[in-house]
Amino acid sequence: MTRRLHPLWGLQLVWALLLAAAAPGAAQLLDPEAESTCITCHEQEEEELAVPVPEWRESVHALHEVSCDGCHGGDPREQDADLSMSEEAGFLDNPSWTEMTDYCGVCHEGIAESYRLGYLGRNLREGVRVATCATCHMADGHRIVESRPEEILTAERCPHCLGVDDPQSELARLHEVRALELATAAQVRAAGDKGMDVMGLDAGRRAAHASWMLSVHRFHDEFIEPALRVARAELAEVRSTAIEYERRADERRRYGAVVLGALGMLLVSLVLMRRASK
Ligand code: HEC
Ligand code: HEC
Ligand code: HEC
Ligand code: HEC
Repeated sequence: MTRRLHPLWGLQLVWALLLAAAAPGAAQLLDPEAESTCITCHEQEEEELAVPVPEWRESVHALHEVSCDGCHGGDPREQDADLSMSEEAGFLDNPSWTEMTDYCGVCHEGIAESYRLGYLGRNLREGVRVATCATCHMADGHRIVESRPEEILTAERCPHCLGVDDPQSELARLHEVRALELATAAQVRAAGDKGMDVMGLDAGRRAAHASWMLSVHRFHDEFIEPALRVARAELAEVRSTAIEYERRADERRRYGAVVLGALGMLLVSLVLMRRASK
């Protein structure tokens, strides 16, 4: 007897492969030979030319497939150093501190704009040596990871953080919003776990985070205080809606149980009635 594969089997395999490809960490499975020449060459260079590679590999940028050329420009398929890092290939020299905002701002447009409009940007234009994106986010070189405020706004780093005149209260605000965000996310998840559609709530939560991040990068009480009130209100709104969703889900479940119970009793009484009529 020959075993025939179920026709859906192939489809399932394709599906499994797609899932595997989409799984987090898939980036690490990429064929190293397929990596850019920036990486293959720099890896073999001396010290400070090579260190960016392992650092970058652990960064959010590697995770999101933003490679060397994403920031530095140049041609990542060209083997020759001069051609790969030529002006024609759009290679950019390392940004000076005054160029940093534009450099990162290619992708982080909103945050860069807030920085420019805020206290640090204003001072930078007047020639004051303020903290730039790299001061705060590249203290560990290319290992730019999910930003943890308590590691950024530290005593060692904050002498540079002009405008962040009170790092401790700045930190307290960031932590307050973080905690509210976590609580909100947990509440939204609870509603989602009970079968409610929480796409809108997740979008609301993310929008609140994004606008808070914009205000934070203005680094000035004048902006941050009102933004803090807005963030509190927006997150509270999402959270209370999520609580309401969860309540409705519970209600539905209880109602379902009552209906099921009633149906069961109806069935039993029908059976009993049939028996009695025999
Ligand atoms: C074949 C080897 C090779 C390739 C390919 C290569 N580089 Fe380089 N890179 C070097 C060497 C050597 C230096 C230092 C000497 C110099 O600046 O030319 C360097 C310097 C740099 C610097 C420092 C410049 C500065 O001003 O300090 C950056 C940034 C850089 N490379 C990024 C890249 C990027 C991005 C790519 C791919 C688009 C790339 N490299 C491709 C070998 C290479
Ligand atoms: C998120 C943007 C970003 C990415 C991605 C990135 N770099 Fe950089 N890189 C920078 C910035 C900004 C500097 C300058 C740092 C400073 O001035 O503090 C820099 C500096 C360098 C330098 C000069 C180091 C020194 O000490 O002089 C080299 C070499 C370099 N990068 C290579 C690479 C390579 C190779 C990759 C890919 C593995 C890469 N970079 C990915 C932003 C980036
Ligand atoms: C004075 C220090 C400082 C400077 C300067 C700074 N940042 Fe930040 N940045 C932070 C802190 C602190 C956080 C984390 C806040 C939090 O998550 O509570 C952050 C968060 C971020 C995030 C994460 C946003 C998100 O959605 O979670 C990005 C992206 C970012 N910064 C980019 C930039 C760019 C680009 C620049 C330059 C234009 C810059 N930052 C300048 C301190 C700084
Ligand atoms: C080519 C596009 C690109 C450039 C240029 C770029 N980034 Fe990013 N960055 C991303 C993407 C994509 C993410 C991940 C998604 C997100 O958080 O927005 C990210 C995430 C981040 C985060 C978020 C970490 C967190 O809390 O989640 C920080 C901080 C950051 N980048 C800093 C920088 C800095 C500093 C520079 C300039 C030196 C820079 N980026 C340049 C694309 C870029």
